[in-house]
Amino acid sequence: MSVSVRSFAKINIGLAIGAKRADGFHALRTVYQTVAIHDVIHVDVVAGEGIEIRCKDARVPTDATNTCYRVAERVMRTLRRLEKVIIEIEKNLPVQGGIGGGSSNAVTTLFALERALGVTLDPHEKLRIAAEVGSDLPLFLLGGLVLGHGRGEEIYPLPDLPPLPIVIVTPAVPVSTPQAFRDWDALAEAELTQGRPSDTINTFSRGVFAWLSGIAPTGVPTSGGDRAETLLLDLVRAGIVNDFERVVFPQNPELRDVKCVLEREGAVYASLSGSGSTLYGLFSSAQEAEKAATKLNTQGVPAVATVTLPRAAYREQMFIR
Ligand code: C5P
Repeated sequence: MSVSVRSFAKINIGLAIGAKRADGFHALRTVYQTVAIHDVIHVDVVAGEGIEIRCKDARVPTDATNTCYRVAERVMRTLRRLEKVIIEIEKNLPVQGGIGGGSSNAVTTLFALERALGVTLDPHEKLRIAAEVGSDLPLFLLGGLVLGHGRGEEIYPLPDLPPLPIVIVTPAVPVSTPQAFRDWDALAEAELTQGRPSDTINTFSRGVFAWLSGIAPTGVPTSGGDRAETLLLDLVRAGIVNDFERVVFPQNPELRDVKCVLEREGAVYASLSGSGSTLYGLFSSAQEAEKAATKLNTQGVPAVATVTLPRAAYREQMFIR
């Protein structure tokens, strides 16, 4: 049976980095938001053994390092199944840090494989497999607006914001996530020496708490417009920033310039996503978002206008067949 799924991207609304842990990962807090741009993943289960990855984009690995491969391998092992799994990745999303493409592809492979095999894995097993493969995978088990804790893999659904116009920008600038974490460590160490210890995790947590406290008991209204924008502004004005900007921007000034363009073009909020180099801007209207994307494209910077994707839409739109 062949199953096809949409594999949506994500952005980070704020990302606070804490201390390096004994396992080498950093404590962090972030708010993830899924967005409507996507890849398509086709999963087939046939007679035989092993996992085959097919992708026309040469930048996507087709060996055992591929995140889809790693998830499929774990699913088959967990279920003690011995068929052959064929995973075809139709890459539309930029192969770019910060947008979660590889992580999303892997989680949608898991959902597609469940359907192809006619089984439902225990939610704990799904979370275990996703977290084993990467910190940014589990958020895609939920979709919508998600709080990330731990090393990013502990996830909690937040009340969704209604869909908002967004511009996703993918400058051709490589950023290494492990290196960005090391650079953050050096910065935090220097500030500690100067008697200014960084405490962004607390600021972030207080901000999210203040935002959640301000939401009516009935939750977030489902209609968009001004109310959605106000809610978003409440969130981003509550001390929600991406710490990676402080190390990634000085090394790549062109990324800071993109953020300035988004702000000049009217973004309600603009930021680096994850450790980059993806950036995004949230806008009040689709027209403004389109205009900003066109402006960046004419400057030779790849940008696309889309919308944020709330949880219900994420689930409804995932399966194609
Ligand atoms: O979990 P993931 O594979 O996405 O992590 C990639 C790398 O990023 C890790 O090997 C680690 O160097 C760094 N990382 C970290 N702290 C986190 C998440 C990732 O130091 N919370």
